[in-house]
Amino acid sequence: MEIHIVADADAGAKVVADLFERTVRDAGDSGAVLGLATGSSPVPTYTELIRRHREEGLSFAACRAFLLDEYVGLPAGHEQSYHAFIRDNFISSIDIEDASVISPNGAASDPAAEAADYDRRIGEAGGVDLQILGIGSNGHIAFNEPGSSLASRTRVVGLTRSTIADNARYFDSPADVPVRAISQGLGTILEARRIVLTASGEGKAAAVAQLAEGAISARWPATVLQTHPAVTVVVDEAAASQLELADYYRHSRALESDIPLSTDR
Ligand code: PGA
Repeated sequence: MEIHIVADADAGAKVVADLFERTVRDAGDSGAVLGLATGSSPVPTYTELIRRHREEGLSFAACRAFLLDEYVGLPAGHEQSYHAFIRDNFISSIDIEDASVISPNGAASDPAAEAADYDRRIGEAGGVDLQILGIGSNGHIAFNEPGSSLASRTRVVGLTRSTIADNARYFDSPADVPVRAISQGLGTILEARRIVLTASGEGKAAAVAQLAEGAISARWPATVLQTHPAVTVVVDEAAASQLELADYYRHSRALESDIPLSTDR
């Protein structure tokens, strides 16, 4: 696990965008398979990638992409769906084909079958080359809340009471707030060839400390990333504030500055 402590979210976005750019350029015409996330954490990265597309000609035309998760029960095209979020915040502003951006269908008549089929579709595409992740303050990644199997596959999950309460502000009536989602599992996420997790703010500090330095446990689902050979964590000073080894991470980044970001570690 490689930990970058950066000044702010914009500096972090450049580090993460560098990884995306390298992945996209290395894949060339065969097209990278990108793993995309929703939530606020990846948005600065998406903004930087849109800038590179517009100003530097970075093309995503050959890429395909898979989202981590989707609410169950929202009509297709609902403005709070993750399907809509990723279009509004990223893919409508770059040159990827809309049909190449895949997400679980939360309106499927059989959500469990839809979930099971999702892993097959990722596999058929050759697997994810680079997956971006945020992290919840309770250590969740995607909708893998504490208690999730560390080997879990894409499945239907019930949202925690706190997640439902957090989401209520986006909906007109409490009855409209989704209570279930289809989420990639932890085992699914671990199959990505490279993973980058980004977090900012003090509210994430405990989860980031567990992620990097805690015991691997379903209590903090993100700790499973310690078992993956190619994980980059990009955090601002506030999110890094509970890391016991922060000085070492800064020191080692300086010593390894000539090693390409794409190298396993
Ligand atoms: P955030 O959410 O990026 O909006 O902070 C991350 C998460 O809860 O997974």
